[in-house]
Amino acid sequence: MRVWRLAALAAAGLGMAGAAMAQGNVIAERKDGMREMGRHLEAINGILQSRGNQAQIATAADRIIAFYSNINALYPASSLTPPVPQGRSDGQTRALAAIEPNRAAFTEYSSDMVRQLTAMKTAAATGGVTPEMLRAAGQVCAGCHNQFRAR
Ligand code: HEC
Repeated sequence: MRVWRLAALAAAGLGMAGAAMAQGNVIAERKDGMREMGRHLEAINGILQSRGNQAQIATAADRIIAFYSNINALYPASSLTPPVPQGRSDGQTRALAAIEPNRAAFTEYSSDMVRQLTAMKTAAATGGVTPEMLRAAGQVCAGCHNQFRAR
């Protein structure tokens, strides 16, 4: 499962995602952020494949941890589909309305991601990150997408 291979575009930095932010911006920001997360996993994968210096993993892990620690701010109920039209174009979304009544489960996927990346960061300090750890993180991405993202 290589969801992160979708990553291609240069994403904008993830500023503060406040509830006050316009809804269209929240949607654009979370899509950019998700693509950025894909690139970070891709970078970690590259380091592991090339048996590179795992110290570099810490930076990517920090970005991923920061993004998923704050995930609910990027998914207010008013920004889900419906009421927002479903699709991949600007202003559309694939984030399902099911997120709102299942907020605890949605948050748990994010918390799981944070836990796994925190463990990965710790392991990186001694060169102990394994491909299995990366695969397990990728499965959290896929689990949340299966439940909460339209195809
Ligand atoms: C807590 C749930 C959750 C987790 C965990 C999660 N995602 Fe997502 N992801 C979503 C939702 C919901 C969308 C749909 C966003 C939208 O269309 O507004 C999405 C969309 C995406 C997209 C498409 C962005 C676009 O341009 O439309 C990519 C790429 C992506 N995620 C990658 C990842 C990767 C890589 C991971 C793991 C590091 C991950 N996601 C983890 C919920 C999650």
